[in-house]
Amino acid sequence: MIYGKIFYNGEFIEAGIEVENGRIKRIGKLLKGRRVEGVILPAGIDVHVHFRDFDEKHKETIETGSLAALHGGICLAVDQPNTRPLVDSEESYFQRMEKAEKCTYVDYALNLALTNNNANRLEEIIKKIQRKYFLPAVGEAFLQNERKELEISYETLKAASMVNAKITVHAEDPRFVRVGQPNFLFRSREAEVVAVEECEKIGNFHFCHLSTKEAVERVTRGTFEVTPHHILLSVEDYDRLGELVNVNPPLRQKRDSEWLLKNFSRIQLLASDHAPHTIEDKKMGSAGFPGVETMYPIFVYLAKIGVVGFGELVEKIAVNPSKLFGFREYGSLEVGKLANFVVFDLKDVQKIRSDKLHSLCDWTPYEGFKAVFPREVYIRGEEVLQSGIRAGKILKLNKKFIS
Ligand code: DOR
Ligand code: ZN
Repeated sequence: MIYGKIFYNGEFIEAGIEVENGRIKRIGKLLKGRRVEGVILPAGIDVHVHFRDFDEKHKETIETGSLAALHGGICLAVDQPNTRPLVDSEESYFQRMEKAEKCTYVDYALNLALTNNNANRLEEIIKKIQRKYFLPAVGEAFLQNERKELEISYETLKAASMVNAKITVHAEDPRFVRVGQPNFLFRSREAEVVAVEECEKIGNFHFCHLSTKEAVERVTRGTFEVTPHHILLSVEDYDRLGELVNVNPPLRQKRDSEWLLKNFSRIQLLASDHAPHTIEDKKMGSAGFPGVETMYPIFVYLAKIGVVGFGELVEKIAVNPSKLFGFREYGSLEVGKLANFVVFDLKDVQKIRSDKLHSLCDWTPYEGFKAVFPREVYIRGEEVLQSGIRAGKILKLNKKFIS
Protein backbone atom coordinates (compact mmCIF):
# COMPACT_ATOMS: atom_id res chain seq x y z
CA MET A 1 0.00 0.00 0.00
CA ILE A 2 2.72 2.53 0.78
CA TYR A 3 6.41 2.28 0.09
CA GLY A 4 9.25 4.31 1.57
CA LYS A 5 11.90 4.64 4.24
CA ILE A 6 10.42 2.60 7.09
CA PHE A 7 11.77 2.43 10.61
CA TYR A 8 11.86 -1.32 11.07
CA ASN A 9 13.65 -3.36 13.73
CA GLY A 10 15.72 -0.42 14.91
CA GLU A 11 16.83 0.84 11.48
CA PHE A 12 15.57 2.43 8.29
CA ILE A 13 14.89 0.17 5.34
CA GLU A 14 13.38 0.90 1.94
CA ALA A 15 10.29 -1.25 1.89
CA GLY A 16 6.55 -1.43 1.45
CA ILE A 17 3.92 -2.02 4.13
CA GLU A 18 0.89 -4.16 3.42
CA VAL A 19 -2.11 -3.87 5.70
CA GLU A 20 -5.02 -6.20 6.23
CA ASN A 21 -7.91 -5.76 8.65
CA GLY A 22 -6.17 -2.92 10.42
CA ARG A 23 -2.96 -4.87 11.04
CA ILE A 24 0.40 -5.03 9.36
CA LYS A 25 0.33 -8.07 7.11
CA ARG A 26 3.74 -7.80 5.48
CA ILE A 27 6.75 -5.50 5.38
CA GLY A 28 9.08 -6.18 2.48
CA LYS A 29 11.42 -4.73 -0.10
CA LEU A 30 9.59 -6.39 -2.95
CA LEU A 31 6.15 -5.14 -2.00
CA LYS A 32 4.67 -2.56 -4.33
CA GLY A 33 2.95 0.60 -3.17
CA ARG A 34 2.60 4.36 -3.45
CA ARG A 35 6.00 5.90 -2.79
CA VAL A 36 6.06 8.43 0.06
CA GLU A 37 8.67 11.10 0.77
CA GLY A 38 10.45 11.24 4.11
CA VAL A 39 10.29 8.61 6.82
CA ILE A 40 7.63 6.21 8.04
CA LEU A 41 7.70 5.85 11.83
CA PRO A 42 5.43 4.01 14.27
CA ALA A 43 2.68 6.32 15.48
CA GLY A 44 3.33 7.62 18.98
CA ILE A 45 1.71 6.72 22.28
CA ASP A 46 1.18 9.56 24.76
CA VAL A 47 0.66 8.03 28.19
CA HIS A 48 -0.13 11.34 29.86
CA VAL A 49 -2.77 13.74 28.55
CA HIS A 50 -5.52 15.76 30.22
CA PHE A 51 -8.41 15.97 27.78
CA ARG A 52 -10.62 17.68 30.43
CA ASP A 53 -14.16 17.73 29.02
CA PHE A 54 -17.02 17.29 31.55
CA ASP A 55 -17.21 20.64 33.40
CA GLU A 56 -14.08 22.00 31.71
CA LYS A 57 -15.18 21.87 28.10
CA HIS A 58 -13.94 25.40 27.56
CA LYS A 59 -10.34 24.21 28.05
CA GLU A 60 -10.43 21.00 26.02
CA THR A 61 -12.71 18.11 25.17
CA ILE A 62 -11.94 14.51 24.34
CA GLU A 63 -12.81 15.39 20.76
CA THR A 64 -10.48 18.40 20.42
CA GLY A 65 -7.69 16.84 22.46
CA SER A 66 -7.73 13.65 20.42
CA LEU A 67 -7.85 15.65 17.19
CA ALA A 68 -4.72 17.47 18.36
CA ALA A 69 -3.14 14.09 19.15
CA LEU A 70 -3.94 12.84 15.66
CA HIS A 71 -2.31 15.87 14.04
CA GLY A 72 0.72 15.26 16.21
CA GLY A 73 1.20 11.66 15.05
CA ILE A 74 -0.14 10.09 18.26
CA CYS A 75 -2.33 7.01 17.76
CA LEU A 76 -3.09 6.25 21.41
CA ALA A 77 -3.64 8.72 24.23
CA VAL A 78 -3.93 7.88 27.91
CA ASP A 79 -6.19 10.39 29.59
CA GLN A 80 -5.79 11.44 33.22
CA PRO A 81 -8.64 11.34 35.73
CA ASN A 82 -8.26 14.71 37.48
CA THR A 83 -11.31 15.93 35.61
CA ARG A 84 -14.20 17.90 37.10
CA PRO A 85 -15.91 15.82 38.41
CA LEU A 86 -13.15 13.29 39.09
CA VAL A 87 -12.90 9.85 37.53
CA ASP A 88 -12.56 8.02 40.83
CA SER A 89 -15.27 5.36 40.64
CA GLU A 90 -16.47 2.72 38.23
CA GLU A 91 -19.50 4.87 37.37
CA SER A 92 -17.50 7.93 36.39
CA TYR A 93 -15.00 5.73 34.55
CA PHE A 94 -17.72 4.10 32.47
CA GLN A 95 -19.36 7.44 31.81
CA ARG A 96 -16.13 8.89 30.40
CA MET A 97 -15.29 5.84 28.30
CA GLU A 98 -18.77 5.90 26.79
CA LYS A 99 -18.31 9.56 25.95
CA ALA A 100 -14.88 8.91 24.42
CA GLU A 101 -16.24 6.12 22.28
CA LYS A 102 -18.47 8.61 20.49
CA CYS A 103 -15.90 11.28 19.76
CA THR A 104 -12.27 10.19 19.95
CA TYR A 105 -10.07 10.52 16.86
CA VAL A 106 -7.27 8.35 18.21
CA ASP A 107 -7.29 5.23 20.34
CA TYR A 108 -8.18 6.16 23.86
CA ALA A 109 -7.45 4.78 27.31
CA LEU A 110 -8.08 6.24 30.73
CA ASN A 111 -6.41 6.06 34.12
CA LEU A 112 -8.41 5.87 37.35
CA ALA A 113 -7.87 8.44 40.08
CA LEU A 114 -6.38 7.28 43.35
CA THR A 115 -7.18 9.49 46.32
CA ASN A 116 -7.43 9.17 50.08
CA ASN A 117 -11.17 8.80 49.54
CA ASN A 118 -11.34 5.85 47.17
CA ALA A 119 -8.18 3.95 48.19
CA ASN A 120 -10.08 1.55 50.46
CA ARG A 121 -12.28 0.47 47.53
CA LEU A 122 -9.48 0.46 44.96
CA GLU A 123 -9.29 -3.26 44.31
CA GLU A 124 -13.03 -3.58 43.86
CA ILE A 125 -13.24 -0.60 41.48
CA ILE A 126 -10.33 -1.88 39.40
CA LYS A 127 -11.90 -5.31 39.06
CA LYS A 128 -15.16 -3.82 37.82
CA ILE A 129 -13.38 -1.62 35.30
CA GLN A 130 -11.18 -4.42 34.03
CA ARG A 131 -14.15 -6.59 33.21
CA LYS A 132 -14.97 -4.08 30.50
CA TYR A 133 -11.96 -1.97 29.67
CA PHE A 134 -8.20 -1.93 29.44
CA LEU A 135 -7.01 0.07 32.44
CA PRO A 136 -3.44 1.30 31.80
CA ALA A 137 -2.81 2.57 35.33
CA VAL A 138 -4.12 4.14 38.48
CA GLY A 139 -3.01 7.77 38.88
CA GLU A 140 -1.34 10.27 38.43
CA ALA A 141 -1.67 10.10 42.22
CA PHE A 142 -1.20 13.63 43.54
CA LEU A 143 0.84 13.91 46.72
CA GLN A 144 0.13 17.63 46.54
CA ASN A 145 -2.75 19.35 44.77
CA GLU A 146 -4.74 22.53 45.09
CA ARG A 147 -7.83 20.33 44.98
CA LYS A 148 -7.85 18.62 48.34
CA GLU A 149 -10.17 15.90 47.03
CA LEU A 150 -7.26 14.73 44.82
CA GLU A 151 -4.60 14.37 47.46
CA ILE A 152 -3.12 11.11 48.63
CA SER A 153 -0.77 10.48 51.54
CA TYR A 154 2.33 8.28 51.45
CA GLU A 155 0.55 5.85 53.81
CA THR A 156 -2.38 5.44 51.46
CA LEU A 157 -0.03 5.17 48.50
CA LYS A 158 1.83 2.42 50.29
CA ALA A 159 -1.34 0.49 50.96
CA ALA A 160 -2.46 0.98 47.35
CA SER A 161 0.85 -0.28 46.01
CA MET A 162 -0.13 -3.78 47.18
CA VAL A 163 -2.89 -3.81 44.59
CA ASN A 164 -2.05 -5.47 41.32
CA ALA A 165 -2.09 -2.39 39.06
CA LYS A 166 0.47 0.08 37.87
CA ILE A 167 0.35 3.31 39.88
CA THR A 168 1.57 6.54 38.36
CA VAL A 169 2.59 9.29 40.76
CA HIS A 170 2.80 13.05 40.49
CA ALA A 171 5.86 13.26 42.69
CA GLU A 172 5.94 16.60 44.48
CA ASP A 173 6.08 16.48 48.26
CA PRO A 174 3.67 19.04 49.81
CA ARG A 175 6.23 20.00 52.48
CA PHE A 176 8.31 21.72 49.80
CA VAL A 177 5.54 23.38 47.83
CA ARG A 178 4.44 26.94 48.47
CA VAL A 179 1.94 28.95 46.49
CA GLY A 180 3.05 32.00 44.52
CA GLN A 181 3.71 33.41 41.07
CA PRO A 182 5.66 32.49 39.02
CA ASN A 183 5.41 29.02 40.47
CA PHE A 184 9.03 28.02 39.77
CA LEU A 185 10.09 30.30 42.61
CA PHE A 186 7.80 28.50 45.06
CA ARG A 187 7.83 24.80 44.17
CA SER A 188 11.32 23.68 44.98
CA ARG A 189 13.26 20.88 43.34
CA GLU A 190 13.39 19.17 46.76
CA ALA A 191 9.64 18.63 46.42
CA GLU A 192 10.30 16.29 43.50
CA VAL A 193 13.48 14.69 44.83
CA VAL A 194 12.04 13.92 48.27
CA ALA A 195 8.79 12.58 46.82
CA VAL A 196 10.69 10.17 44.56
CA GLU A 197 12.88 9.12 47.47
CA GLU A 198 9.89 8.43 49.72
CA CYS A 199 7.98 6.57 47.02
CA GLU A 200 10.98 4.43 46.17
CA LYS A 201 11.07 3.32 49.83
CA ILE A 202 7.47 2.17 49.83
CA GLY A 203 6.77 0.57 46.49
CA ASN A 204 7.18 0.24 42.78
CA PHE A 205 5.71 3.24 40.99
CA HIS A 206 5.76 4.98 37.65
CA PHE A 207 6.83 8.59 38.10
CA CYS A 208 5.14 11.18 35.92
CA HIS A 209 7.08 14.08 34.39
CA LEU A 210 10.41 13.99 36.28
CA SER A 211 12.30 17.20 35.79
CA THR A 212 15.56 17.01 37.71
CA LYS A 213 18.74 14.96 37.49
CA GLU A 214 18.55 14.13 41.21
CA ALA A 215 15.06 12.67 40.88
CA VAL A 216 15.96 10.65 37.77
CA GLU A 217 19.00 9.25 39.57
CA ARG A 218 16.88 8.14 42.52
CA VAL A 219 14.60 5.91 40.47
CA THR A 220 15.81 2.35 40.90
CA ARG A 221 12.71 0.20 41.37
CA GLY A 222 10.24 2.27 39.43
CA THR A 223 9.94 3.74 35.95
CA PHE A 224 9.58 7.32 34.84
CA GLU A 225 8.60 9.66 32.04
CA VAL A 226 9.92 13.08 31.06
CA THR A 227 8.01 15.82 29.23
CA PRO A 228 9.23 17.76 26.20
CA HIS A 229 8.86 21.02 28.16
CA HIS A 230 11.27 19.95 30.89
CA ILE A 231 13.79 19.01 28.21
CA LEU A 232 13.35 22.02 25.95
CA LEU A 233 12.32 24.88 28.24
CA SER A 234 13.65 26.36 31.47
CA VAL A 235 13.11 29.32 33.80
CA GLU A 236 14.95 31.34 31.17
CA ASP A 237 11.77 31.12 29.08
CA TYR A 238 9.96 33.21 31.68
CA ASP A 239 10.72 36.43 29.74
CA ARG A 240 9.04 34.95 26.69
CA LEU A 241 6.18 33.08 28.39
CA GLY A 242 5.29 35.56 31.13
CA GLU A 243 1.95 34.61 32.66
CA LEU A 244 1.88 31.38 30.71
CA VAL A 245 4.93 29.98 32.53
CA ASN A 246 3.28 27.93 35.29
CA VAL A 247 3.44 24.17 35.00
CA ASN A 248 3.72 21.45 37.65
CA PRO A 249 6.41 20.41 38.23
CA PRO A 250 7.70 23.86 37.34
CA LEU A 251 10.27 24.74 34.71
CA ARG A 252 13.75 24.29 36.14
CA GLN A 253 17.12 25.87 35.58
CA LYS A 254 18.77 25.75 32.16
CA ARG A 255 21.33 23.26 33.48
CA ASP A 256 18.46 20.87 34.33
CA SER A 257 16.86 20.95 30.90
CA GLU A 258 20.30 20.64 29.30
CA TRP A 259 21.07 17.63 31.47
CA LEU A 260 17.83 15.93 30.39
CA LEU A 261 18.59 16.51 26.72
CA LYS A 262 22.17 15.35 27.10
CA ASN A 263 20.93 12.25 28.91
CA PHE A 264 18.07 11.63 26.50
CA SER A 265 19.15 8.01 26.11
CA ARG A 266 18.48 7.44 29.85
CA ILE A 267 14.90 8.68 29.65
CA GLN A 268 12.48 5.79 29.57
CA LEU A 269 9.47 7.53 28.07
CA LEU A 270 8.48 10.85 26.62
CA ALA A 271 4.98 11.92 27.62
CA SER A 272 3.46 15.33 26.97
CA ASP A 273 1.44 15.95 30.16
CA HIS A 274 -0.84 17.82 27.73
CA ALA A 275 -2.57 20.07 30.28
CA PRO A 276 -4.55 22.76 28.44
CA HIS A 277 -5.83 25.87 30.18
CA THR A 278 -7.25 28.94 28.46
CA ILE A 279 -5.15 32.10 28.41
CA GLU A 280 -7.56 33.66 30.92
CA ASP A 281 -7.02 30.71 33.27
CA LYS A 282 -3.27 30.98 32.81
CA LYS A 283 -3.42 34.62 33.82
CA MET A 284 -5.10 33.49 37.03
CA GLY A 285 -2.15 31.16 37.69
CA SER A 286 -3.34 27.78 36.32
CA ALA A 287 -0.46 25.38 35.82
CA GLY A 288 -0.08 23.28 32.69
CA PHE A 289 1.07 23.32 29.06
CA PRO A 290 -0.62 21.86 26.00
CA GLY A 291 1.75 19.49 24.19
CA VAL A 292 0.17 16.41 22.66
CA GLU A 293 0.29 17.85 19.12
CA THR A 294 3.81 19.23 19.26
CA MET A 295 5.74 16.47 21.06
CA TYR A 296 6.45 14.11 18.16
CA PRO A 297 6.88 16.89 15.53
CA ILE A 298 9.45 18.80 17.61
CA PHE A 299 11.43 15.66 18.34
CA VAL A 300 11.31 14.49 14.73
CA TYR A 301 12.87 17.84 13.84
CA LEU A 302 15.51 17.32 16.57
CA ALA A 303 16.19 13.87 15.13
CA LYS A 304 16.45 15.30 11.62
CA ILE A 305 19.17 17.73 12.75
CA GLY A 306 20.92 15.03 14.79
CA VAL A 307 20.25 16.30 18.32
CA VAL A 308 18.63 12.96 19.19
CA GLY A 309 18.64 9.68 17.27
CA PHE A 310 15.57 8.41 15.41
CA GLY A 311 16.05 5.07 17.15
CA GLU A 312 16.00 6.54 20.63
CA LEU A 313 13.08 8.79 19.78
CA VAL A 314 10.97 5.88 18.55
CA GLU A 315 11.95 3.92 21.64
CA LYS A 316 10.76 6.67 24.00
CA ILE A 317 7.61 7.69 22.15
CA ALA A 318 6.34 4.34 20.94
CA VAL A 319 8.24 1.18 21.94
CA ASN A 320 8.70 1.83 25.66
CA PRO A 321 5.21 3.23 26.34
CA SER A 322 3.84 0.10 24.71
CA LYS A 323 6.06 -2.18 26.81
CA LEU A 324 5.67 -0.36 30.12
CA PHE A 325 1.92 -0.02 30.01
CA GLY A 326 1.12 -3.27 28.24
CA PHE A 327 -0.15 -1.88 24.92
CA ARG A 328 1.06 -5.02 23.25
CA GLU A 329 -0.37 -4.31 19.82
CA TYR A 330 1.09 -0.82 19.55
CA GLY A 331 4.49 0.79 19.44
CA SER A 332 6.40 -0.72 16.55
CA LEU A 333 6.09 -1.62 12.91
CA GLU A 334 5.91 -5.39 13.02
CA VAL A 335 3.86 -7.98 11.23
CA GLY A 336 0.70 -8.70 13.23
CA LYS A 337 0.65 -5.41 15.15
CA LEU A 338 -1.88 -2.65 14.52
CA ALA A 339 -1.08 -0.64 11.40
CA ASN A 340 -0.44 2.64 13.23
CA PHE A 341 2.19 4.69 11.47
CA VAL A 342 3.10 8.21 10.46
CA VAL A 343 4.77 9.68 7.39
CA PHE A 344 7.03 12.63 8.24
CA ASP A 345 8.45 14.54 5.28
CA LEU A 346 11.74 15.70 6.76
CA LYS A 347 12.10 18.46 4.18
CA ASP A 348 8.91 20.09 5.43
CA VAL A 349 10.19 22.00 8.47
CA GLN A 350 7.61 24.41 9.85
CA LYS A 351 7.49 26.97 12.61
CA ILE A 352 4.89 26.11 15.23
CA ARG A 353 1.97 28.53 15.31
CA SER A 354 -0.78 28.19 17.86
CA ASP A 355 -3.46 29.16 15.34
CA LYS A 356 -2.61 26.04 13.34
CA LEU A 357 -2.91 23.69 16.32
CA HIS A 358 -6.08 21.90 17.34
CA SER A 359 -6.26 22.20 21.12
CA LEU A 360 -9.12 24.39 22.33
CA CYS A 361 -6.79 26.26 24.64
CA ASP A 362 -5.42 28.29 21.75
CA TRP A 363 -1.82 28.80 22.76
CA THR A 364 1.43 26.86 22.90
CA PRO A 365 4.64 27.34 24.85
CA TYR A 366 6.49 26.41 21.63
CA GLU A 367 5.39 29.32 19.44
CA GLY A 368 8.01 29.70 16.67
CA PHE A 369 9.82 26.42 17.45
CA LYS A 370 10.78 24.33 14.44
CA ALA A 371 8.96 21.07 13.88
CA VAL A 372 8.14 18.44 11.27
CA PHE A 373 4.42 17.68 11.42
CA PRO A 374 2.99 14.44 10.04
CA ARG A 375 2.17 14.41 6.37
CA GLU A 376 0.02 11.29 6.71
CA VAL A 377 -1.21 9.36 9.75
CA TYR A 378 -2.56 5.81 9.63
CA ILE A 379 -4.51 4.31 12.50
CA ARG A 380 -5.49 0.66 12.22
CA GLY A 381 -4.61 0.93 8.54
CA GLU A 382 -6.93 3.85 7.84
CA GLU A 383 -5.35 7.00 6.47
CA VAL A 384 -6.88 9.28 9.06
CA LEU A 385 -4.93 12.48 8.67
CA GLN A 386 -5.48 13.17 5.00
CA SER A 387 -8.93 11.75 4.62
CA GLY A 388 -10.23 12.91 8.00
CA ILE A 389 -11.80 9.57 8.87
CA ARG A 390 -12.27 9.08 12.60
CA ALA A 391 -10.59 5.79 13.40
CA GLY A 392 -10.03 6.03 17.14
CA LYS A 393 -11.31 3.36 19.42
CA ILE A 394 -11.45 3.05 23.15
CA LEU A 395 -9.43 0.24 24.62
CA LYS A 396 -11.65 -2.56 25.78
CA LEU A 397 -11.10 -6.16 26.79
CA ASN A 398 -8.30 -6.03 29.25
CA LYS A 399 -6.51 -9.25 28.39
CA LYS A 400 -6.12 -8.52 24.72
CA PHE A 401 -3.61 -5.76 25.31
CA ILE A 402 -1.62 -7.11 28.22
CA SER A 403 1.74 -8.66 27.44
O1 DOR B 1 0.93 21.49 35.25
C1 DOR B 1 0.17 20.59 35.47
N1 DOR B 1 -1.12 20.63 35.10
N2 DOR B 1 0.61 19.51 36.12
C2 DOR B 1 -0.22 18.55 36.53
O2 DOR B 1 0.25 17.61 37.07
C3 DOR B 1 -1.68 18.66 36.33
C4 DOR B 1 -1.96 19.49 35.18
C5 DOR B 1 -3.39 19.88 35.01
O3 DOR B 1 -4.25 19.00 35.08
O4 DOR B 1 -3.66 21.04 34.75
ZN1 ZN C 1 -0.58 15.51 34.38
